[in-house]
Amino acid sequence: MSTEATFSRGLEGVIAAESALTYIDGQKGILAYLGIPIEELAEHSTFEETAFLLLHKRLPTRPELQKFTEDLASHRPLPAPIVELLKALPQQAPPMALLRTTISALGHFDPTADDVSLGTLHQKAVQLISQLATLTAAIGRLRRAQEIIPPDPTLPHSANFLYMLTGKRPSAEAARVFDVLLILQADHEFPASTFASLVVASTLSDVYSAISAALGALKGPLHGGASEQVIRMILEIGDPAKAEPYIKERLARRERIMGFGHRVYKTYDPRARILKEYVQKLALQAGDTRLVEIEQIVEKVVIDALGAKGIFPNVDFYSGTVCYYLGIEPELLTPIFAISRITGWMAHILEYLEDNRLFRPTTRYIGPPLRHYIPIDQR
Ligand SMILES: CC(C)(COP(=O)(O)OP(=O)(O)OC[C@H]1O[C@@H](n2cnc3c(N)ncnc32)[C@H](O)[C@@H]1OP(=O)(O)O)[C@@H](O)C(=O)NCCC(=O)NCCS
Repeated sequence: MSTEATFSRGLEGVIAAESALTYIDGQKGILAYLGIPIEELAEHSTFEETAFLLLHKRLPTRPELQKFTEDLASHRPLPAPIVELLKALPQQAPPMALLRTTISALGHFDPTADDVSLGTLHQKAVQLISQLATLTAAIGRLRRAQEIIPPDPTLPHSANFLYMLTGKRPSAEAARVFDVLLILQADHEFPASTFASLVVASTLSDVYSAISAALGALKGPLHGGASEQVIRMILEIGDPAKAEPYIKERLARRERIMGFGHRVYKTYDPRARILKEYVQKLALQAGDTRLVEIEQIVEKVVIDALGAKGIFPNVDFYSGTVCYYLGIEPELLTPIFAISRITGWMAHILEYLEDNRLFRPTTRYIGPPLRHYIPIDQR
């Protein structure tokens, strides 16, 4: 069935679904949710409002936003057995693996888990967006052998997450920076994790399975895992004077520099541009600009070497440093990406199931021609 003409490695360039959610122009560096440029959302919106926008495909009225915010807050507490399960699992397991296991386990406590009608899925979207943040904070606390902190229903989503993770109510500035990070990463059209979630959802399996699949895809270093590797690299460089030789050596060995390059963007990722400004502000506030200086040198060396090939910083290049200045350890960076991106996963699932068609592509067969089975003692 498949022909040479339709074969594309990694499905590059293949349009696998129609979507009204996210527009990307990878040549011009444009990203917009429902037509609204990401720069405007980062400046004026909140995570709650952006989540509503993606799930409902329109901006909310004030009462709608208030209700959505209250719904999100009301779902934050986890079922007690899930907390017990988290405590029973190895605390030093990769946080993404813990997240994948516990999101999957949450399904066992939902009597309507298999109901994939759109109304129920809207409720599950709010619940899962809310509880993924609670799970991530709990995983972060247990890793450091700290008590889990119950959510504070009076705080917005971002501030509450930072509170549950650190035990301190964050400053307005810290909560806002984190909120912007969540807005920027909420959706990105059709990356591997979103596609994985839709492949599962298109079988009409339950949403916990679909989100577990998405988490599994996001865990990989070529997708969500890059930001953790970026901040580790920047910390390893440690000194602005070492940045240029470090990167040049890695490029000479033809190694990939994490946080650069993108399947879609062949220019500067607009999210990286926004985060770069925040990182600079955070560094000045912290009175420690060392990491920012290193990043600027790394950025220049990579763009000088690979910019002509369309390799520029992607969102992961700066998201790790934002979190570093907020006191979040590198191991939690991919789960934090998930806290935001679950919005996009759920929005795409809701959109796709409105007019579902099972994903079932095909392969171009390159194996042996038809032949007879050879009994084992004749081989
Ligand atoms: C994201 C990524 C997988 C997209 O890759 P892709 O669209 O499949 O592009 P390719 O892997 O085909 O790369 C194209 C060329 O650019 C080079 N390249 C791509 N990203 C590079 C990077 N980060 N560092 C160095 N070279 C890179 C490749 O080596 C390849 O060179 P070649 O044509 O000489 O062989 C890739 O850019 C990458 O590995 N980046 C680092 C990981 C990362 O930051 N991921 C987060 C994405 S948001």
